[in-house]
Amino acid sequence: MGKDVIVACDFASGEKTLEFLSKFGEEKPFVKIGMELYYAEGPSIVKAIKERGHKIFLDLKLHDIPNTVKKSMAVLRELDVDMTNLHAGGGIEMMKAAVEGLTREDGTRPILIAVTMLTSISQEVMENELGITGGTVADTVMKYAKNAKAAGLDGVVCSPLEAETVHTACGREFLTVTPGVRFADGDVGDQKRVMTPAQANKIGSDYIVVGRPITAAADPVAAYRRCVREFVGGEE
Ligand code: C5P
Repeated sequence: MGKDVIVACDFASGEKTLEFLSKFGEEKPFVKIGMELYYAEGPSIVKAIKERGHKIFLDLKLHDIPNTVKKSMAVLRELDVDMTNLHAGGGIEMMKAAVEGLTREDGTRPILIAVTMLTSISQEVMENELGITGGTVADTVMKYAKNAKAAGLDGVVCSPLEAETVHTACGREFLTVTPGVRFADGDVGDQKRVMTPAQANKIGSDYIVVGRPITAAADPVAAYRRCVREFVGGEE
Protein backbone atom coordinates (compact mmCIF):
# COMPACT_ATOMS: atom_id res chain seq x y z
CA MET A 1 0.00 0.00 0.00
CA GLY A 2 1.49 3.31 -1.09
CA LYS A 3 0.80 6.72 0.37
CA ASP A 4 -1.02 9.07 -1.97
CA VAL A 5 -2.49 12.54 -2.29
CA ILE A 6 -6.22 12.59 -3.12
CA VAL A 7 -7.45 15.79 -4.77
CA ALA A 8 -10.91 16.81 -3.51
CA CYS A 9 -12.69 17.97 -6.67
CA ASP A 10 -15.35 20.04 -4.96
CA PHE A 11 -16.69 21.58 -8.14
CA ALA A 12 -20.39 22.08 -8.84
CA SER A 13 -20.33 20.73 -12.38
CA GLY A 14 -18.73 17.97 -14.38
CA GLU A 15 -17.59 20.47 -16.97
CA LYS A 16 -15.59 22.45 -14.41
CA THR A 17 -14.13 19.26 -12.97
CA LEU A 18 -12.97 17.91 -16.33
CA GLU A 19 -11.56 21.30 -17.29
CA PHE A 20 -9.60 21.33 -14.02
CA LEU A 21 -8.29 17.77 -14.52
CA SER A 22 -7.21 18.56 -18.09
CA LYS A 23 -4.52 20.84 -16.66
CA PHE A 24 -2.70 17.74 -15.40
CA GLY A 25 -2.05 16.27 -18.84
CA GLU A 26 -0.54 12.81 -18.54
CA GLU A 27 -0.26 13.10 -14.76
CA LYS A 28 -3.30 11.43 -13.21
CA PRO A 29 -3.98 12.42 -9.61
CA PHE A 30 -6.23 10.30 -7.35
CA VAL A 31 -9.53 12.22 -7.35
CA LYS A 32 -12.25 12.54 -4.71
CA ILE A 33 -15.79 12.97 -6.01
CA GLY A 34 -18.21 14.16 -3.33
CA MET A 35 -21.97 14.34 -3.01
CA GLU A 36 -22.37 17.73 -4.67
CA LEU A 37 -20.78 16.67 -7.93
CA TYR A 38 -22.25 13.17 -7.88
CA TYR A 39 -25.79 14.42 -7.26
CA ALA A 40 -25.38 17.03 -9.99
CA GLU A 41 -23.94 14.74 -12.65
CA GLY A 42 -24.67 11.14 -11.64
CA PRO A 43 -22.59 8.07 -12.49
CA SER A 44 -21.52 9.52 -15.85
CA ILE A 45 -19.00 11.84 -14.19
CA VAL A 46 -17.40 8.88 -12.40
CA LYS A 47 -17.10 7.02 -15.70
CA ALA A 48 -15.70 10.07 -17.50
CA ILE A 49 -12.97 10.63 -14.89
CA LYS A 50 -12.19 6.92 -14.72
CA GLU A 51 -11.83 6.80 -18.52
CA ARG A 52 -9.21 9.53 -18.29
CA GLY A 53 -7.14 7.22 -16.13
CA HIS A 54 -7.66 8.65 -12.64
CA LYS A 55 -8.20 6.62 -9.48
CA ILE A 56 -11.44 7.65 -7.78
CA PHE A 57 -12.52 7.98 -4.16
CA LEU A 58 -16.34 8.21 -4.29
CA ASP A 59 -17.25 10.07 -1.10
CA LEU A 60 -20.99 9.42 -0.71
CA LYS A 61 -21.04 8.45 3.02
CA LEU A 62 -23.78 5.83 2.89
CA HIS A 63 -25.92 5.43 6.03
CA ASP A 64 -29.10 3.30 5.99
CA ILE A 65 -30.38 -0.12 7.02
CA PRO A 66 -27.98 -2.99 6.16
CA ASN A 67 -30.06 -4.35 3.27
CA THR A 68 -30.32 -0.96 1.54
CA VAL A 69 -26.62 -0.23 1.99
CA LYS A 70 -25.68 -3.67 0.67
CA LYS A 71 -27.76 -3.22 -2.48
CA SER A 72 -26.53 0.34 -3.01
CA MET A 73 -22.91 -0.75 -2.62
CA ALA A 74 -23.56 -3.46 -5.22
CA VAL A 75 -24.61 -0.69 -7.61
CA LEU A 76 -21.51 1.38 -6.81
CA ARG A 77 -19.36 -1.72 -7.32
CA GLU A 78 -20.27 -1.54 -11.02
CA LEU A 79 -18.72 1.94 -11.25
CA ASP A 80 -15.37 0.35 -10.48
CA VAL A 81 -14.17 3.13 -8.17
CA ASP A 82 -10.99 2.63 -6.13
CA MET A 83 -12.29 3.81 -2.76
CA THR A 84 -15.67 4.60 -1.23
CA ASN A 85 -17.14 5.18 2.22
CA LEU A 86 -20.04 5.01 4.68
CA HIS A 87 -20.96 6.24 8.16
CA ALA A 88 -19.73 4.02 10.99
CA GLY A 89 -22.79 5.29 12.91
CA GLY A 90 -24.87 2.79 10.90
CA GLY A 91 -23.42 -0.01 13.04
CA ILE A 92 -21.34 -3.13 12.50
CA GLU A 93 -24.07 -5.11 10.74
CA MET A 94 -24.54 -2.30 8.22
CA MET A 95 -20.79 -2.09 7.60
CA LYS A 96 -20.56 -5.86 7.08
CA ALA A 97 -23.45 -5.67 4.61
CA ALA A 98 -21.61 -2.89 2.76
CA VAL A 99 -18.50 -5.07 2.42
CA GLU A 100 -20.64 -7.89 1.00
CA GLY A 101 -22.35 -5.59 -1.48
CA LEU A 102 -19.12 -4.06 -2.67
CA THR A 103 -17.20 -7.32 -3.14
CA ARG A 104 -16.83 -8.44 -6.76
CA GLU A 105 -17.29 -12.03 -7.91
CA ASP A 106 -13.52 -12.59 -7.87
CA GLY A 107 -13.36 -11.55 -4.20
CA THR A 108 -11.71 -8.16 -4.81
CA ARG A 109 -13.35 -4.85 -3.92
CA PRO A 110 -12.64 -1.12 -3.73
CA ILE A 111 -11.09 0.18 -0.51
CA LEU A 112 -13.93 0.80 1.96
CA ILE A 113 -13.47 3.31 4.75
CA ALA A 114 -15.74 4.70 7.46
CA VAL A 115 -16.54 8.22 8.52
CA THR A 116 -16.48 8.17 12.32
CA MET A 117 -17.76 11.29 14.10
CA LEU A 118 -18.06 14.24 11.70
CA THR A 119 -15.58 16.97 12.63
CA SER A 120 -18.52 19.39 12.70
CA ILE A 121 -19.92 17.61 15.79
CA SER A 122 -18.82 19.12 19.09
CA GLN A 123 -18.79 17.40 22.48
CA GLU A 124 -21.94 19.32 23.43
CA VAL A 125 -23.85 18.35 20.28
CA MET A 126 -22.74 14.72 20.60
CA GLU A 127 -24.08 14.54 24.15
CA ASN A 128 -27.15 16.76 24.03
CA GLU A 129 -28.43 16.22 20.49
CA LEU A 130 -27.16 12.78 19.58
CA GLY A 131 -27.45 11.36 23.10
CA ILE A 132 -23.98 9.78 23.06
CA THR A 133 -22.72 10.19 26.61
CA GLY A 134 -20.02 8.73 28.82
CA GLY A 135 -16.97 9.76 26.85
CA THR A 136 -15.28 12.33 24.69
CA VAL A 137 -15.68 12.79 20.93
CA ALA A 138 -12.24 11.17 20.61
CA ASP A 139 -13.53 8.11 22.54
CA THR A 140 -16.44 7.81 20.09
CA VAL A 141 -14.06 8.16 17.13
CA MET A 142 -11.95 5.28 18.51
CA LYS A 143 -15.01 3.12 19.22
CA TYR A 144 -16.31 3.67 15.68
CA ALA A 145 -12.87 2.95 14.21
CA LYS A 146 -12.72 -0.34 16.12
CA ASN A 147 -16.25 -1.20 14.94
CA ALA A 148 -15.20 -0.49 11.35
CA LYS A 149 -12.23 -2.80 11.74
CA ALA A 150 -14.41 -5.50 13.31
CA ALA A 151 -16.75 -5.26 10.31
CA GLY A 152 -13.87 -5.87 7.91
CA LEU A 153 -13.42 -2.33 6.58
CA ASP A 154 -10.01 -1.04 5.50
CA GLY A 155 -9.80 2.18 7.48
CA VAL A 156 -11.37 5.47 8.50
CA VAL A 157 -11.52 9.09 7.48
CA CYS A 158 -10.11 11.05 10.40
CA SER A 159 -8.29 14.20 11.40
CA PRO A 160 -4.52 13.90 10.90
CA LEU A 161 -4.34 14.49 14.64
CA GLU A 162 -6.21 11.23 15.22
CA ALA A 163 -4.23 9.12 12.77
CA GLU A 164 -1.64 7.93 15.28
CA THR A 165 -4.21 6.88 17.88
CA VAL A 166 -6.26 5.08 15.23
CA HIS A 167 -3.17 3.14 14.15
CA THR A 168 -2.33 2.27 17.75
CA ALA A 169 -5.87 1.03 18.40
CA CYS A 170 -6.55 -0.71 15.07
CA GLY A 171 -3.12 -1.62 13.71
CA ARG A 172 -0.69 -0.06 11.23
CA GLU A 173 -2.40 -1.70 8.26
CA PHE A 174 -5.73 -0.02 9.07
CA LEU A 175 -5.84 3.00 6.76
CA THR A 176 -6.18 6.61 7.84
CA VAL A 177 -7.48 9.01 5.19
CA THR A 178 -7.05 12.55 6.43
CA PRO A 179 -8.42 15.90 5.26
CA GLY A 180 -7.48 19.20 6.94
CA VAL A 181 -4.12 19.57 5.18
CA ARG A 182 -2.56 22.95 4.42
CA PHE A 183 0.83 24.13 3.16
CA ALA A 184 2.95 25.80 5.83
CA ASP A 185 2.64 29.13 4.00
CA GLY A 186 -0.97 28.66 2.81
CA ASP A 187 -4.45 29.85 3.76
CA VAL A 188 -6.16 27.80 6.47
CA GLY A 189 -9.66 28.82 5.27
CA ASP A 190 -12.48 27.28 7.31
CA GLN A 191 -10.45 24.30 8.54
CA LYS A 192 -9.82 24.53 12.28
CA ARG A 193 -7.09 22.03 12.98
CA VAL A 194 -4.62 21.59 10.14
CA MET A 195 -1.34 19.87 9.37
CA THR A 196 1.16 20.27 6.56
CA PRO A 197 1.63 17.35 4.14
CA ALA A 198 5.02 16.58 5.73
CA GLN A 199 3.52 16.50 9.22
CA ALA A 200 0.68 14.28 8.01
CA ASN A 201 3.30 11.93 6.58
CA LYS A 202 5.22 11.85 9.85
CA ILE A 203 2.24 11.00 12.02
CA GLY A 204 1.35 8.16 9.67
CA SER A 205 -1.54 9.31 7.46
CA ASP A 206 -1.92 6.87 4.58
CA TYR A 207 -3.82 9.20 2.25
CA ILE A 208 -4.32 12.94 2.52
CA VAL A 209 -7.39 14.57 0.99
CA VAL A 210 -6.51 18.03 -0.27
CA GLY A 211 -8.97 20.43 -1.84
CA ARG A 212 -8.53 24.19 -2.02
CA PRO A 213 -4.74 24.30 -1.54
CA ILE A 214 -4.66 22.59 -4.97
CA THR A 215 -7.96 23.49 -6.66
CA ALA A 216 -7.76 27.21 -5.80
CA ALA A 217 -4.01 27.56 -6.43
CA ALA A 218 -2.78 29.85 -9.19
CA ASP A 219 -0.91 26.81 -10.55
CA PRO A 220 -2.81 23.69 -9.43
CA VAL A 221 -0.36 21.28 -11.06
CA ALA A 222 2.59 22.85 -9.21
CA ALA A 223 0.61 22.80 -5.96
CA TYR A 224 -0.26 19.12 -6.48
CA ARG A 225 3.37 18.22 -7.18
CA ARG A 226 4.50 20.11 -4.10
CA CYS A 227 1.93 18.24 -2.04
CA VAL A 228 3.17 14.87 -3.33
CA ARG A 229 6.82 15.85 -2.69
CA GLU A 230 6.04 16.87 0.88
CA PHE A 231 3.67 14.02 1.73
CA VAL A 232 5.05 11.04 -0.17
CA GLY A 233 8.63 12.27 -0.32
CA GLY A 234 8.64 13.65 3.23
CA GLU A 235 10.16 16.90 2.03
CA GLU A 236 9.72 19.67 4.67
O1 C5P B 1 -10.51 22.37 0.53
P1 C5P B 1 -10.11 21.44 1.63
O2 C5P B 1 -8.67 20.96 1.55
O3 C5P B 1 -10.46 21.97 3.00
O4 C5P B 1 -11.01 20.17 1.36
C1 C5P B 1 -11.04 19.05 2.20
C2 C5P B 1 -11.98 18.01 1.69
O5 C5P B 1 -12.13 17.02 2.70
C3 C5P B 1 -13.40 18.52 1.38
O6 C5P B 1 -13.90 17.73 0.30
C4 C5P B 1 -14.14 18.24 2.66
O7 C5P B 1 -15.51 18.06 2.45
C5 C5P B 1 -13.47 16.94 3.13
N1 C5P B 1 -13.58 16.69 4.58
C6 C5P B 1 -13.08 17.58 5.53
N2 C5P B 1 -13.21 17.29 6.86
C7 C5P B 1 -13.80 16.16 7.26
C8 C5P B 1 -14.28 15.25 6.32
C9 C5P B 1 -14.15 15.56 4.97
O8 C5P B 1 -12.53 18.61 5.19
N3 C5P B 1 -13.87 15.89 8.54
